[in-house]
Amino acid sequence: MYEKVWNQTKIAFGGDYNPEQWPEEVWDEDMRLFRLAHVDTVTLNVFSWASLQPSEDTYDFAKLDKIMECVTKNGLKVVLATSTGAHPAWMARKYPEILMTDYNGMKRKFGGRHNSCPNSFVYRKYSSRLAAKLAERYGHYKNIVAWHISNEYGGGGECYCENCEKAFRKWLEKKYGTISELNRVWNTSFWGHTFYDWDEIVLPNVLSEQFGDGRTMFQGISLDYRRFHSDSLLECYILEYDAIKAITPDIPITTNLMGFFTGLDYGKWAKHMDFVSWDNYPSNDMLPAEIAMGHEIMRGVGSGRPFILMEQTPSVTNWLPYNALKRPGVMRLWSYQAIAHGSDSVMFFQMRRSIGACEKYHGALIDHAGHEHTRVFREMAELGAELAALGGEVIGSRIEARAAVLFDWDNWWAVEYSAGPSCMLHYLDEARNYYKALFAQNIPVDIIGCSDDFSKYSVIFAPILYMVKPGVDTRLCEFVKAGGRFVTTYFSGYVDEHDLVVTGGYPGKLRELLGIWVEESDALPEGASNHFTWEGCRYEARLLCDLLHLEGAEALAFYEEDFYADMPVLTRNTYGSGSAWYVAAQSEEAFYEKLTEKICADAGVRPVPVIAPRGVEATVRTREDAAYLFLLNHTMQEQTVFVREDATVLSDGTPVAAGSSITLPKYGVAILKQPRQANNVIGLSGI
Ligand code: GLA
Ligand code: ZN
Repeated sequence: MYEKVWNQTKIAFGGDYNPEQWPEEVWDEDMRLFRLAHVDTVTLNVFSWASLQPSEDTYDFAKLDKIMECVTKNGLKVVLATSTGAHPAWMARKYPEILMTDYNGMKRKFGGRHNSCPNSFVYRKYSSRLAAKLAERYGHYKNIVAWHISNEYGGGGECYCENCEKAFRKWLEKKYGTISELNRVWNTSFWGHTFYDWDEIVLPNVLSEQFGDGRTMFQGISLDYRRFHSDSLLECYILEYDAIKAITPDIPITTNLMGFFTGLDYGKWAKHMDFVSWDNYPSNDMLPAEIAMGHEIMRGVGSGRPFILMEQTPSVTNWLPYNALKRPGVMRLWSYQAIAHGSDSVMFFQMRRSIGACEKYHGALIDHAGHEHTRVFREMAELGAELAALGGEVIGSRIEARAAVLFDWDNWWAVEYSAGPSCMLHYLDEARNYYKALFAQNIPVDIIGCSDDFSKYSVIFAPILYMVKPGVDTRLCEFVKAGGRFVTTYFSGYVDEHDLVVTGGYPGKLRELLGIWVEESDALPEGASNHFTWEGCRYEARLLCDLLHLEGAEALAFYEEDFYADMPVLTRNTYGSGSAWYVAAQSEEAFYEKLTEKICADAGVRPVPVIAPRGVEATVRTREDAAYLFLLNHTMQEQTVFVREDATVLSDGTPVAAGSSITLPKYGVAILKQPRQANNVIGLSGI
């Protein structure tokens, strides 16, 4: 049977609802409006700790009881949050240890949210206690479909307080056992940093190890601090998770992630979540590919299972310099885009716009006008009706991709903390370059982590695989030996998991697989470029240009300028039944498209079977009984798409024969369905 996030009968539709901010008379009106908009799921209780626990010894659930009764009576499903994303003011006053200390060493006062030190004993005690109390009190409600722990962990930044410093030392001791091992992995003989006692270790912040511009002096220390901090927050999450699970073992538990959020190792976090949920807030200038990539990583950390789009804005946000309206049709288009990439929900922040504080101008289903006669309400209600009509279609289906982009948080941190070789070197940028090229061709892609199973893919792109963690090199070799195509780039294979350089020549442990040796790397300033010609087209080489020697690989293209003209810039090494490619510089869009197209075609990895103009995205989700083809027109013009397989239009069953076309209006969406039998792997699902 296909896997559902919870016992869903349809795509969940609704979002964050804060009735506690409103007099009770308003609630009935909310219920009427929810019915009009086809809202079926609400996320409650995200920031109510202060009212649920008015003092250390008292809890007061009276209001939440009423809210639960109200939404239950009205047939709504509930994602019940634990409210621990912001602590009460009394707690901060009584226990200042709960307050965070910034990177610059400044102790915070009460205020904001995501404001608790993750290593505060008081925070851990009272947050898990609150979670348990909520589970005890509300666990019997049949309409609670999921628990939502805290909110956007890490959103308040990292804590650099004394509690954290002490906990960091313990974390290190547990990890490294001896101080001499710690000195080794941090390379402390540099700048006389040798530690003789765990208590000599200090936090890597402005007051200690800052190098400037986000870089640090000892990447090993900073890297471990990131890992430690991500683990500290994860421990807080797990405390609540365990407290709830013990009481309601059958209700799935999640917390809302944030896509490519750098602060937490989501690859690790997702392993502790019953399902992944996330908040998608693209800024005005984000491209469809970039938005899609956010969904991809969230599906990826969840091992490909469907996820929940927990939040998006119906129209505006409140935190951009220019909070532009989502143009008519865009909210619908982006909602289907989330589904097209694996979401089994369309949920929003928020249901009713608050009247005070910093989110009073953030978009909502119900605007300050207070009624249904608004553009945003109309658009949401129409989408709500469409999703209701889909019923159980799509739910539980998955994306079957044979191409993957490798993305790893430790690697991200290590690249970003490194002083040198270029201030323009950003891991996510290069990962995006490869992803965008695959996206442009509608080639299904998974974004996977280092510990995922490589064998289900035919091609793996691993841009800037700077850090090669233990075993990853061997697994990549096995993957290629068995026929896989592996592609990596400049600034790969340099270091081990401690950010210690692997000596003997770059790309370290990947050297044999790639059949090359990189001797030097030239950082070009912004705007500067070298060039190369490959298969008749000339491309730019930018950012970092590796000077490399062949050790078995063949050169496919050469630099054309500078003193390293005629040295290889693109190589391919045949290894076992597969091949390992090396791209020695950053290049341009046309190159990435050509390269990914060629490698995928060689590997038999095909795009979604449609002929679509640029700007029209196509994805396929499949399950045992059906394949669903999503066509999304991201352009402001009408577009025509030719379909290569027989299918029917999901919404009305109209047949669409292979070879015929579908016209999509500006920002239009179409979903086609192809029935599928268990052993039928041709057609839409035969990607
Ligand atoms: C985040 C939070 C919400 C809300 C929105 C506003 O996603 O989880 O509580 O603040 O941002 O964009
Ligand atoms: Zn702290």
